[in-house]
Amino acid sequence: MAEKQKIGWIGLGKMGIPMSQNLVKAGYPLTVYNRTKEKTKELSDQGAQVEDSPKALASQVDVIISMISDDPALEAVSFGADGAFEGAGSGSIYIDMSTTSPKASARVAEAANKKDIKYLRAPVSGSTALATAGTLTIFASGPKDAYDQCVDIFGSMGQKSLHVGTGEEARYLKLVLNMMVGLTSAMTAEALTFGEKGGMDWEQMIDIVNNSVVASPLVGYKAQMLKDRNYAPAFTIAQMAKDFDIALDTAKAIDVPMPITSLVRQFFGTMKAKGKGELDFFAYVTLLEELAGI
Ligand SMILES: NC(=O)c1ccc[n+]([C@@H]2O[C@H](COP(=O)([O-])OP(=O)(O)OC[C@H]3O[C@@H](n4cnc5c(N)ncnc54)[C@H](OP(=O)(O)O)[C@@H]3O)[C@@H](O)[C@H]2O)c1
Repeated sequence: MAEKQKIGWIGLGKMGIPMSQNLVKAGYPLTVYNRTKEKTKELSDQGAQVEDSPKALASQVDVIISMISDDPALEAVSFGADGAFEGAGSGSIYIDMSTTSPKASARVAEAANKKDIKYLRAPVSGSTALATAGTLTIFASGPKDAYDQCVDIFGSMGQKSLHVGTGEEARYLKLVLNMMVGLTSAMTAEALTFGEKGGMDWEQMIDIVNNSVVASPLVGYKAQMLKDRNYAPAFTIAQMAKDFDIALDTAKAIDVPMPITSLVRQFFGTMKAKGKGELDFFAYVTLLEELAGI
């Protein structure tokens, strides 16, 4: 059997920890880096080696994977001063699995190209629970030969991976899905607030919605959260606002009108201004309740 590739993992946040743990479970030799070093303890306890910079990590592995917050983080860990591209050997593979803009991603592609690094964009669909279960869906775009070499790696973190193009396609696809996910929270919040003020029993109403024609896997995942009114985040309002900003900026650049996304972004901003940015994005309903005088 072929030897397992050595993997370097950058970014141990809510998603990065469970995803990288699944690679350890699958038997990949893992080296990790996180900006805040204390967060590497869980992985080092499980046998991962820890490095002090993406550059140092990259020089020791075959495949580098990042799961970080946003565009500035992506640029810092890839082609930044102490970034992975400073240490990566020619022909190595770099995979970014975060949700970032097509524009920043294209800058990374250009830098990767100059260093003969194969760059895959591989954002994921699914939240922390699916990351833990290893059942994410992974959309990759970039060189097909690099994708083929990484199919088993993706298989350790997800139930399905798809190659969707050779450029920034996966970045667009991820935004398509997150716009619809974010808009679902807004639509659900508005309807539930209306029903609540009309006197519907909260839990019964959620059960009925969740078994109706508008039920969806997403509404199903969030039903208990809504019933319990426990908005501990799987994905925060601030993160969703970031994704809406990327989608809106990108849409502006390619002249696609997105009036609904634009409106809902204003309400995510209001949530942040009210100190609710770190709650789960389904906490949107609490803002609508407040506006409705409930
Ligand atoms: N959470 C979800 O349900 C979910 C689902 C699908 C996709 N995503 C996407 O996946 C990505 C990660 O999400 P997450 O929930 O894991 O985020 P998170 O918990 O906020 O973790 C963010 C990670 O990025 C690192 N980071 C931030 N800025 C950095 C910088 N300038 N340089 C180096 N590292 C930096 C953080 O390091 P520190 O520890 O030092 O802060 C941390 O490791 C995001 O793009 C998100 O949109 C999330």
